[in-house]
Amino acid sequence: MWRLTGREFRTCLAVLILVTVLLSKIFGNEEGDALYIFRNNLQDPNNVMDNWNRTDKNPCKWNHVTCNSLDSVVRLDMGNALLSGQLVPQLALLTNLQYLELYANNLSGHIPVYLENLTNLVSLELYTNNFDGPIPDALGKLFKLRFLDLSSNRLSGPVPQNGSFSLFTAISYANNLDLCGPIIEKPCPGSSPPAVSSPDGDSKPNIGAIVGGVVAVWCHYLLLW
Ligand SMILES: *[C@@H]1O[C@H](CO)[C@@H](O)[C@H](O)[C@H]1NC(C)=O
Ligand SMILES: *[C@@H]1O[C@H](CO)[C@@H](O)[C@H](O)[C@H]1NC(C)=O
Ligand SMILES: *[C@@H]1O[C@H](CO)[C@@H](O)[C@H](O)[C@H]1NC(C)=O
Ligand SMILES: *[C@@H]1O[C@H](CO)[C@@H](O)[C@H](O)[C@H]1NC(C)=O
Repeated sequence: MWRLTGREFRTCLAVLILVTVLLSKIFGNEEGDALYIFRNNLQDPNNVMDNWNRTDKNPCKWNHVTCNSLDSVVRLDMGNALLSGQLVPQLALLTNLQYLELYANNLSGHIPVYLENLTNLVSLELYTNNFDGPIPDALGKLFKLRFLDLSSNRLSGPVPQNGSFSLFTAISYANNLDLCGPIIEKPCPGSSPPAVSSPDGDSKPNIGAIVGGVVAVWCHYLLLW
């Protein structure tokens, strides 16, 4: 009788595992599962997520969810829905998400850094909630972002300026607790004020810093040599 050698068996097993993983990627419901966890972590007194049934093969018919032609989620429209609670890291699995509309709820906790993984995001509207803590500057990596509204929360700390943040103005951050930075024209505590006029006495330390910097760069190249 024909038998597989150990080596053939292992190859066969590897191929089988690969095929299973690929099939579960294609036919599995990873995005639906992620949204279901999102739902389970929220209070939803108006049952706006009523028809989110985990046995569905994808979440594309669920209320407030929109998919593209490949049945991947591109929009979550849940503004004004009386939702309370915190966001979950599984949201980062919605890799094709373009619109995350969660404004005018009662969501709390920090604005999660893992949203940086939603690299297709065009619109992030979280205004009128109870988010607190800093604005993660990693979100500057969302290079497709065109609409950002974080106003009317309880955010504090510096408003980031780099990456996509350079596109937005003070309106995106209005009515928060304690934000600061050039974009909202409010100096951060301990930051140097804009260098308009500096008293004479300040020039020495600056020269010191410049000389220090030049020496540091020079040493660096010397070491590389
Ligand atoms: C989910 O869908 C299945 C199959 O259509 C149905 O049997 C079940 O009752 C639904 N569950 C809920 C909670 O609606
Ligand atoms: C975000 O992406 C990074 C890099 O790919 C990964 O290490 C991290 O686990 C992701 N975070 C989430 C919450 O998926
Ligand atoms: C808002 O959420 C907080 C918890 O974060 C909860 O204590 C409060 O009852 C919620 N308010 C409403 C109106 O749902
Ligand atoms: C913005 O700056 C911060 C810290 O300086 C950095 O961690 C982040 O990666 C930068 N983001 C972009 C998009 O350059």
